[in-house]
Amino acid sequence: MGGPVRDALLGRPIKDLDFCVEGDAPALAQRLAVELAGQTVVHPRFGTATVLAAGSRFDLVTARRETYAHPGALPRVTPSGIRDDLARRDFSINAMAIQLPGEPSEVLDHWGGLEDLRLGVVRTLHDKSFIDDPTRVFRAIRYEQRLGFRIDEKTLGHLKDAVDRGLVAALSPDRLRHEVERILEEENPRMALARCVDLGVLQAVHPALNDLDKLERLSVGAGSEPESPPGKPMVYLAALVSDLSAQEGEELIGRLNMPEGWRRTVRDSIRLRGMVDELNDDSLSPSGLVHLLEDVSVEAVTALELTSVDTVVKQGVHRFLTELRFVEPGLDGRDLLQLGVPPGPLLGRILSRLRDDVLDGRAATDAGRRRLVRRLVKDSMAETAGKPSSAEAIKDAGHG
Ligand code: CTP
Repeated sequence: MGGPVRDALLGRPIKDLDFCVEGDAPALAQRLAVELAGQTVVHPRFGTATVLAAGSRFDLVTARRETYAHPGALPRVTPSGIRDDLARRDFSINAMAIQLPGEPSEVLDHWGGLEDLRLGVVRTLHDKSFIDDPTRVFRAIRYEQRLGFRIDEKTLGHLKDAVDRGLVAALSPDRLRHEVERILEEENPRMALARCVDLGVLQAVHPALNDLDKLERLSVGAGSEPESPPGKPMVYLAALVSDLSAQEGEELIGRLNMPEGWRRTVRDSIRLRGMVDELNDDSLSPSGLVHLLEDVSVEAVTALELTSVDTVVKQGVHRFLTELRFVEPGLDGRDLLQLGVPPGPLLGRILSRLRDDVLDGRAATDAGRRRLVRRLVKDSMAETAGKPSSAEAIKDAGHG
């Protein structure tokens, strides 16, 4: 039932199977796990269970009726039949089931889901659906954009009404983050994010999340929607927040109760925007580029590459991501010790200087690199010998 039936009817790949049981789902799950030599995870409070067996997983829920004490509250659940279970669903396309045992062609469809699949429409089952559960605002947009459907007009009216009444803004930080995360994880988050901005949904999360142009550039910049740049969800998050002020970034972090990885992405993306003038300089050396970008998260840098309108910035950042960040100094610590570099901070400084020279093409050969090391050691020794120790300097000052 639900998503798998929808996807099977659309000929899309099916993820995990969901089963609805008119009876005790956890008990059935336990029996199945024994028979399939698998395991069960039971959530007795919700009458649900997950079976893990033979490398696959499926969920079983006890057919139930749901009522909501107030908008945004978690539902009160009472056991019931499949009809009630389907009636508590978000959209008609998710409110279908196939009876077992039976013919796959016999789809239980009390809400016109088959017709809506045919028409390509996302439609709620009743007028209060978004009031019962405002997270459905995000879900409607996700399905619409993922499936290339359109939200039915009346449904869209109720969706906008829920946003206007502040129901999205009133969701808890964790529930909001979960919905934002599910959008960021979509195959094509850009369209869903743009639709969220279009409908004022992201602005309900934070008013500064309103830049449609930048979302547009996320694809224009790359020539095509990036299929899976590394850490794609975080790349999209970085792109979304890069124009926020540092304070707005912190507000958003709190608003979504962001975990560490998200926080770093947001802060780095905002910090990186402050470096754009320096990056927009075609005389910037490769080592200069690396010094600017090396401690910024790769996702934030990728987002800048995709959204920047400055060719110099775009090219520099692209070169950093694809080539410069992987450049090594050419010699390692052991080589340096052999060349007479004493262990300690000088060794680290020489390695870093070596890498800069390799990056800037000044130490292209092994012999050249070794020459550079010997010279740096000599200079450093001369410097130490020439400098009075701090004790001597104080003594000298006293005599003066
Ligand atoms: N559901 C709902 N209202 C919600 C969340 C879920 O009615 N706020 C119902 C829908 O019928 C949905 C089912 O619970 O089909 C399972 O939820 P989920 O796993 O989020 O949906 P899928 O359809 O499996 O979504 P996806 O394809 O994105 O995994």
